[in-house]
Amino acid sequence: MNEMPPVQGLPTHRSCPYDPPDDYTRLRAERPVVPIVYPDGNQGWLLSRYEDVKTLLTDPRFSSERSRSARTRHRDTKPAMPPGAFISMDPPEHTRYRRLVSGRFTTRKMRELEPRVEAYARQFLDRMEEKGGPVDLVEEYALPIPSLVISDLLGVPSGSRADFQRWSADVLNVELPLDQIKASINEFSRFMQDLIAFKKKEPGDDLISDLVHPGSEDDRLTDDEVAGLCTLMLIAGHESTSNMLSLGTLVTLRNEDQLSALRENPALIDSAVEELLRYLSIVQFSFTRTALEDMEIGGHRIEAGQTVVGAMVSANRDPESFPDPDRLIFDRQDARNLAFGHGVHMCIGHQLARIEMKVAFRRLFERFPTLRIAVPDDQIRFKTDSVVYGVWELPVTWDATR
Ligand code: HEM
Repeated sequence: MNEMPPVQGLPTHRSCPYDPPDDYTRLRAERPVVPIVYPDGNQGWLLSRYEDVKTLLTDPRFSSERSRSARTRHRDTKPAMPPGAFISMDPPEHTRYRRLVSGRFTTRKMRELEPRVEAYARQFLDRMEEKGGPVDLVEEYALPIPSLVISDLLGVPSGSRADFQRWSADVLNVELPLDQIKASINEFSRFMQDLIAFKKKEPGDDLISDLVHPGSEDDRLTDDEVAGLCTLMLIAGHESTSNMLSLGTLVTLRNEDQLSALRENPALIDSAVEELLRYLSIVQFSFTRTALEDMEIGGHRIEAGQTVVGAMVSANRDPESFPDPDRLIFDRQDARNLAFGHGVHMCIGHQLARIEMKVAFRRLFERFPTLRIAVPDDQIRFKTDSVVYGVWELPVTWDATR
């Protein structure tokens, strides 16, 4: 591939849990475009600088389709994406599926959702207060809010939500045995098929009903496509936001000056959310892209068919793009971070996630002025091996006021 020795696997070791894996500082400075050997033995490229990652995400000469890569043609070790999961498609196919969903994510629709997010935040904060600390913030707050909001949007009936949360947690849990993950995937897809059949008979004001009752024949999808598309939305829709809420709370509590600034000036919440997105970059890497033709990036030749991954977790700490990148600064006036990606695949849920974070952080810190982490840092389990970084649980406590 190249004379440079490749790095072995994506960097994961973090000496500080709030900073990106250590290797990125050196890679960004010395080897910003570096060959990499994946755990399955295949090779690709890893990009760590802001400008290069942005190019990867926007340049149409990079494809998101897995079948395009020499890697998958020679040896495919990953399960195929389900039909309808448009994150691994290119335009015009990608455009068609994304358009079918985007009507539910307009600015107006998102604004209409805000009172519901407020109501969920109040409901779970009341429950935490009733229980008294310590509680696990992930289970009591960070997971249920995004999970209920995305379930409402899709039309998942309230009786099935606990099952759905369990299946999607299993699907993303790298620590589980493969048999259990497969069993959960099977249960999940049976659940989706039943739900689709139900929405055909009894449509509601929700995304699944929109998809099974299309406005025109051109927009008609098979049940498998609807199931695949909705599985993508359900999993993407709560897992990342949930990790941002828990890890964002932790890091805010660990930066007392920033928390005080936010308490003194609640209007800081918009830029604080943006800064937490940048600083934590919990979706650490892009989906794999494949070069459609030979090209040069950062002075390196990438051949058609080779795969490339962009590390947003590194790009968002690039000193060339962000002054003092390793400091959390809530009033940083720079909204150019790549936490939601960029280009045609930019996160479709970015507005929703921003509303959820704004409401959830604001109400949490308001309700519990003495909120603190209930265990020392070395007892917090971080999701170091997962594509989506976060914490498995976060015990918090506070001084009761009543
Ligand atoms: C795509 C991050 C919340 C649904 C993406 C991508 C990133 C991302 C980085 C682009 C991946 C790439 O180009 O390789 C995040 C973060 C979130 C979040 C950090 C929370 C803080 C959500 C929510 C939803 C969602 C709430 C659903 C409502 C999607 C979908 C895609 C996507 C469907 C694929 C878009 C496409 O391919 O056109 N997200 N996301 N995400 N996200 Fe999110």
